[in-house]
Amino acid sequence: MDYKSFVEERFKDHPKRLRHTLGVYKRAIELGKIYGADLEVLKVASLLHDVTKHESDDYHIKMIDDEKILSSYPKPMWHAYSAAKLAEELGIKNKKIIEAINYHIFGKIDMEIETMILCVSDFSEENRTFVEANEVYEVSLKNIKEAYLLVIESTLNHLKKQGIEPVKEQKEVYRYYKEGRR
Ligand SMILES: [Fe+2]
Ligand SMILES: [Fe+2]
Repeated sequence: MDYKSFVEERFKDHPKRLRHTLGVYKRAIELGKIYGADLEVLKVASLLHDVTKHESDDYHIKMIDDEKILSSYPKPMWHAYSAAKLAEELGIKNKKIIEAINYHIFGKIDMEIETMILCVSDFSEENRTFVEANEVYEVSLKNIKEAYLLVIESTLNHLKKQGIEPVKEQKEVYRYYKEGRR
């Protein structure tokens, strides 16, 4: 399946989302080459990572069968899980692709390199305008784990400023990589 055409069609009324998606794709391939990651996994995962972003709450509720996500994760995070489900429905069986889409927001403990690259690319693709994006990009060219930690630190700071409590898994995965430097 041509996933690029699929997202172009899906985002025909959301040009910014399409631009972001193609930016993530470009960044993910660039980093994937540096770190010897699976480029086919990165291609499909980056193109599909936000594919359900503009769907309704009802759509996400219908797609996500994990009650914990629906009850304890903020709604803006739901799209990652519904997008992974949609990918499965499209016939994608590669576990690395599904993991990368599922966990693209903050990663997971013992994640695949492709998942980490997608997290970093999502944050630092060329259309991102916040100052940390470029810093993360510069670091990502040398050390993907350091770049990933910067992404999570920046996200946690952002949540703190807004008075939003991060989800438990977000703090756990950060601690795991920060302390273990895995
Ligand atoms: Fe996303
Ligand atoms: Fe994204």
